[in-house]
Amino acid sequence: MQISFAAKAQDGAGVLVVGGSERELLPAAAALDKRLAGALRRAADSSRFKGRVGDMVELLAPAGLPFGRVILAGTGPGAKFDKSGAERLAAGVVSRLLTGGEKQLTFDIDVPKGSRLKPAQAATHLAMGAQLRSYSFHKYRTKHRDEHEPTLSAVTVVTEDAAAARKSWERMRAVADGVFLARDLVNEPPNVMSPQEFAARARALSKLGVKVEVLGEAEMRKLGMNALLGVGQGSERESQLVVMQWNGGRKKDEPIAFVGKGVCFDSGGLSLKTGAGMMGMKGDMGGAAAVTGTMHALAARKARVNAVGILGLVENMPDGKAQRPDDVVISASGQTIEILNTDAEGRLVLADALWYAQTKFKPRFVIDLATLTGAILVALGLEHAGLFSNDDKLADRIQQAGREVGEVVWRLPLHDAYDKMLKSKIADMKNISGVTHGGSIVAAQFLQRFIDKTPWAHLDIAGVAWQDGEQKPLSPGWGVGWGVRILDRLVADHYEK
Ligand code: BES
Ligand code: MN
Ligand code: ZN
Repeated sequence: MQISFAAKAQDGAGVLVVGGSERELLPAAAALDKRLAGALRRAADSSRFKGRVGDMVELLAPAGLPFGRVILAGTGPGAKFDKSGAERLAAGVVSRLLTGGEKQLTFDIDVPKGSRLKPAQAATHLAMGAQLRSYSFHKYRTKHRDEHEPTLSAVTVVTEDAAAARKSWERMRAVADGVFLARDLVNEPPNVMSPQEFAARARALSKLGVKVEVLGEAEMRKLGMNALLGVGQGSERESQLVVMQWNGGRKKDEPIAFVGKGVCFDSGGLSLKTGAGMMGMKGDMGGAAAVTGTMHALAARKARVNAVGILGLVENMPDGKAQRPDDVVISASGQTIEILNTDAEGRLVLADALWYAQTKFKPRFVIDLATLTGAILVALGLEHAGLFSNDDKLADRIQQAGREVGEVVWRLPLHDAYDKMLKSKIADMKNISGVTHGGSIVAAQFLQRFIDKTPWAHLDIAGVAWQDGEQKPLSPGWGVGWGVRILDRLVADHYEK
């Protein structure tokens, strides 16, 4: 989508979007209504326009105007028109028009009284909503392509502070691109998105100045990463560890580190999932996708931070060579793990990847993202990601960043009593507790056994990484790209000088 900012709306083809609430038409809408001899107001009255975000009234080919259509979009009451409101308003309009034939669209929406948004902020968040909603993934369609192919390709946002809007849009565009990359990675089918293919896509970040290294199985074996390798050993495809470094900070600054679970397909392994349980398991690399998208965003906007992104990429398959329930592996940390369920594989991958992140980079903090447990869907549903942390300050910052960008998280406890549930009869720990309840916490406790003194947070994103039912307003399609915005915000708010 081509996004631009302008001081005034140009008369011309395309769609003009103006704003209003139930009580009033905002100035640009009122002026337009005058040119239309009151037709906009009448249309609003006759269609029960409530003026909430998402509400719209549309006039097609209005006489005497050069626009193909005019849309009155609800802003809600001014006090409630915030960043998210602006984003959802624009997303709603784009959703309605994306593939319908219109090519260009202009938002001429004044900031309503009572809103705390600055004009440039309102403009850039309208742009962000439009951009994020314009995503589509239809490369595998050969039929009815034109129904799915977006026609809308240019959005202009009218604002009194176009220069400021242009400037901050540059960085927001980088973040949107990171979200799109994460969505693409999640949406690709698993026959295409193997660990090696994923690594190749990560390697492409080098054109943004990211240093990318890829370790194969032989190198990981040397590092003793048997927990990760055990998960991948039933697959025909080689496991990969991707290490991305963005050095935008000062040389002497310790980096921050992100680690992503990258199970490119999770069949469960010999502890095989059911047919229904296996559907969607191409998305079990959603954590790795979020980390990759974040590294893209940070590099593309030249963030002044040193950041490391580490991906544990494997495929979990049943096979004659596959890992068995009852196997014991020695992880890179030296701790031994009794594998009692090969479907609790994400924690095994992360154990070695987290260990590598800490020992190799001595980061200020490490955050892992993982579609780790079905239990997190039971606890939190499809809105909040689960947050676990050994550090209150880091946890608070993550929660705050999430509220700002609309990727919300909810903190759950860690406690010794759950840790005890991982005691094994023959090894340092087992990989499942064996009881049904508290599965997400037990999984987090398992990860914590591989954290030294480093401030650490774990985000269980199994409920938010993809969507099967209703779509989130800013996220069309299946892969959500969850995690890029919250991590980018966290960095921007606290870790850039
Ligand atoms: N990738 C799954 C978790 C998952 C389940 C994500 C459903 C999204 C939707 C993970 O590897 C897994 O299989 N976890 C098991 C753990 C159990 C064996 C202790 C689970 O949640 O059932
Ligand atoms: Mn699994
Ligand atoms: Zn999994």
